[in-house]
Amino acid sequence: MIELAPSILAADFTRLGQQVSDALACGVKRIHCDIMDGQFVPNISMGPLVVQAIKPIVAKMGAMIETHLMIEQPDRYIADFVQAGANLVTVHVETCPHLHRTLQQIRELGAQVGVALNPATPLVMLEEILGDVDLVLVMTVNPGFGGQEFIPESVDKIARLKKMLAASKSSGRSSSQSLDVHIEVDGGIHTGTIAAAEKAGATLAVCGTAVFNREASVADNIAALHKAASL
Ligand code: DX5
Ligand code: ZN
Repeated sequence: MIELAPSILAADFTRLGQQVSDALACGVKRIHCDIMDGQFVPNISMGPLVVQAIKPIVAKMGAMIETHLMIEQPDRYIADFVQAGANLVTVHVETCPHLHRTLQQIRELGAQVGVALNPATPLVMLEEILGDVDLVLVMTVNPGFGGQEFIPESVDKIARLKKMLAASKSSGRSSSQSLDVHIEVDGGIHTGTIAAAEKAGATLAVCGTAVFNREASVADNIAALHKAASL
């Protein structure tokens, strides 16, 4: 079953701790933090301080923090986010001219390694580094904002990535780390889109507005997503 990674970008920041606790109480094991710099993406969101603030709540429940860095020159901040409590750091291919070095930097700091692709970025950009990552994040909207529409063409991209991972595994070209590479989808995931993403091969689903909204409780929203995913 696809695992949910609620994104706090959509949370009510006046009661962030409670919102995170509500998600963790439902058995969520990953909290997704969207870091935006107003450069790589038009929006500005949060920095290491927020990661640090929620870390004790997340760690107490045996869960992890994913940081999705939508920032230019992410190398400058990777250590800060790991120090603040990030268990996984995801960088965008589009921001890393020395991607291999950047991924090594994350690994050396003791965090799990993620790499993200914008909707217009082809999978071929991953070819040389698949063995160095724990997770590939497929953007299913253009990054920068929550609450956008899922791009339907992403389904085929996820399926092709799944094939690519299987091929790299059977060729033995990649290191053993690639055996368990997660495919994470991010953007526009809700009860109407989660099943298609899962069927295509996604193992993790980032959900912002589908988890944190005014229409229903976090627990009800998470239950609805699980139900929709299993259909
Ligand atoms: C978008 C972010 C997403 C965002 C998803 O740039 O990377 O993680 O929070 O929000 P929803 O689930 O509302 O599309
Ligand atoms: Zn994200």
